[in-house]
Amino acid sequence: MKGIILAGGSGSRLYPLTKVASKQLQPVYDKPMIYYPLTTLIENGVNEFCLISTPMDIPIFRQLLGNGNQWGTSFEYMEQQKPEGIAQAFLIAERFIGKGSVALILGDNIFYGADGFNLAFSEFGDGASIFGYHVNDPERYGVVEFDSRGKAISIEEKPKSPKSNYAVPGLYLYDNKVVSIAKNLKPSSRGELEITDVNMTYLNNSELKVYKLSRGFAWLDAGTSSSLHDASAYVQTIEKRQGIKIGCPEEAAFRAGFLSSAGLEKIIGKLPNCEYRTYLEEVLNETRR
Ligand code: G1P
Repeated sequence: MKGIILAGGSGSRLYPLTKVASKQLQPVYDKPMIYYPLTTLIENGVNEFCLISTPMDIPIFRQLLGNGNQWGTSFEYMEQQKPEGIAQAFLIAERFIGKGSVALILGDNIFYGADGFNLAFSEFGDGASIFGYHVNDPERYGVVEFDSRGKAISIEEKPKSPKSNYAVPGLYLYDNKVVSIAKNLKPSSRGELEITDVNMTYLNNSELKVYKLSRGFAWLDAGTSSSLHDASAYVQTIEKRQGIKIGCPEEAAFRAGFLSSAGLEKIIGKLPNCEYRTYLEEVLNETRR
């Protein structure tokens, strides 16, 4: 499955941080934000990526991630001229998607927890698979409603009176029909092609699966100064306690088998003396013991 990372938007809620660098380049503790969703996809077996961002930010992402070959992955970059909705990603990336299925992840969504998405990726056949995550403030998100047997029956975008506490996080798996579905969407009242309308189309065709994420799983939001700070604190707490890193694409690519020991060693050799380098050396040495 190919992967799209959408890292657009103006990041207005983080101004002035976002005056010179986009939201998805801001630090979340010890790494740029984009590393986290990128790692989530790599951990689930994705190694062909299309990164969509603004014309202004693409050169910086390119500087950060290059063509991806250093990690045994590949990166293409495509421009979203204006923030006209998440579902526009499928129109922009139509050629990249080609004839197969695609995972879309939002560049500001941070996930952490064992096996959260493995099942959904491994059993994906056709249709669409999305997730439901219990939150305190569902009105800020797409909200999925379940019937008494746990079957999804409705999804609403930022409803004033949410029908459940289950928000839909920014990771979506689609078969190839998503391109034609996106082509037939009309912009919503906020002028965007809504991902919720894509999901509703699959739901109405009885082709939508919704996996509930377990309570031990973390989905963090980093869209405001306060939530960005909270996300950093969370990552720091776990990393300090466990001595493992969250959102380390080199490690994920290595463990997924995209990157060989020799490849990882080469990457390490180019890093300055820093904690990140020491960590990758440990990852490499651990497999040699
Ligand atoms: C978007 C989607 C929403 C989803 C959320 C996840 O919201 O429209 O359905 O729950 O991402 O982060 P937005 O980023 O437009 O607030």
